[in-house]
Amino acid sequence: MTHHHHAAPVRPPYAGTRYPRLAGIPAFTEFIASGWDDVPVRPTMPAGTSEAAAAHRSRLSAAMPGQTLVVASGSAPIRNDDAAYGFRADSNFVWLSGCQVEDAVLVMWAVPGGHDAVLYLPRPFRPGDAGFFSNAMHGELWVGPSAGLPEWSDALSITVEPLEALDARHNELRGALAARSAAHLAGGLDAVASPELERTMSRLRMVKDEWEITQLRAAVDATVDGFAAVVAEVPRAIRDGLGERWLQGTFDRHARTFGNGPGYSTIVGSGAHAPILHWVRCDGPVLPHAALLLDMGVEAHSLYTADVTRTVPATGTFSTAQRAVHDLVEKAHRAGLDQIRPGTPYLDFHFAAMEVVAQGLHDWGLLPVSVDEALSPAGQHHRRYLACGIGHHLGLDVHDCSQAQYEDYMGADLEPGVVMTVEPGLYFHAHDLTLPPELRGIGVRLEDDVLVTGSGSDVLSAALPIDADGVEAWTRAHLGPTS
Ligand code: GLY
Ligand code: MN
Ligand code: MN
Repeated sequence: MTHHHHAAPVRPPYAGTRYPRLAGIPAFTEFIASGWDDVPVRPTMPAGTSEAAAAHRSRLSAAMPGQTLVVASGSAPIRNDDAAYGFRADSNFVWLSGCQVEDAVLVMWAVPGGHDAVLYLPRPFRPGDAGFFSNAMHGELWVGPSAGLPEWSDALSITVEPLEALDARHNELRGALAARSAAHLAGGLDAVASPELERTMSRLRMVKDEWEITQLRAAVDATVDGFAAVVAEVPRAIRDGLGERWLQGTFDRHARTFGNGPGYSTIVGSGAHAPILHWVRCDGPVLPHAALLLDMGVEAHSLYTADVTRTVPATGTFSTAQRAVHDLVEKAHRAGLDQIRPGTPYLDFHFAAMEVVAQGLHDWGLLPVSVDEALSPAGQHHRRYLACGIGHHLGLDVHDCSQAQYEDYMGADLEPGVVMTVEPGLYFHAHDLTLPPELRGIGVRLEDDVLVTGSGSDVLSAALPIDADGVEAWTRAHLGPTS
């Protein structure tokens, strides 16, 4: 009789360690250090990235002469042990460098007549480096090959030096201005965290150049496709009880496949969830006869993001009450859009839309005061049903340029190249006792991404209709099969 038995595993005495420490085994480290083909990796980025970044650096250089400026890409927060959250480079860093490498630092050294920009990058953990196999977060054996410093320099037409070269120049950074992303470096660098640099970056980033507008158009176009992909899944989400999560996941998969990912947490709110402004939990069902609010944006590979909302009837037809709310929001939306042109005060779209909202709510008997009293600064009763802002600048960040001063943002006039959202809505909460029962639990938002042109505006998200008939027709055309 033959006995098959497994030999007991060999157990060397790795006393005091959780794992065999490979890095401490000379025979192993010597063996793994060699025998690897050296294949250069080129960075990939949208065409025109390096030229756009160079132009952005010129604008910052002109705005802040004589100051050495430090902007870092940042690093991903640790989730546990050696598992990190996904990394997304700092927007100011991306705007100035076109680079998305983690733990990188851009220094714009003040020199006579301007600035010399140097991009300091961590060296990849290539074969031959101990980190190649021992660093689970950055070693190429773990995370895949990444472009080397010469390849980055070539792709971005910028001087690139290894990060450790910055250590040797720390004393030269005394008094340099650091953006928030570099704040954790600032102590070691002797640089000064600079609200002035943040404000200036926000102001400069507010007017988009042609390349940035191309990126934003691409983000919006991919988002429109994503809306179609989501609406195609609505019948399945209803039929199989997969709920809002399935639709959220559908959009996020689309965004991750055709861009860098969602530009913000995707909002999918069915029925009573639609009036909940940041309904990102998305753990409810998709109800067949409810309005479905979809606030979704693809962040392109360049990291420019769209931010679009439509409220669609889940089975293709609005109820009378849903349609009435949609009509009023559409009217406010059009009033807002009408104000978007160069030379108009930024906030005019807000006031125009709010007038329509207040009048409409008053006509429905929902305001306890007159329209004028509601619209007065000391009133604002209509905002009970619209407690959020109804627009913002859009770019690398969904709420772009948020560090700008009042006079550069809220108090500024629109100029060509500004990209912003217009997004009025009405949010009738399910438990709002001021509302007639038929309005409770209806939330509608219409959000478009709008470019200020030389003569007026261009609605980048115009491929999605904003009128109730158009929304119904578009929805019916894209709903997937019900069985
Ligand atoms: N989705 C965020 C916003 O609309 O501002
Ligand atoms: Mn928005
Ligand atoms: Mn939005």
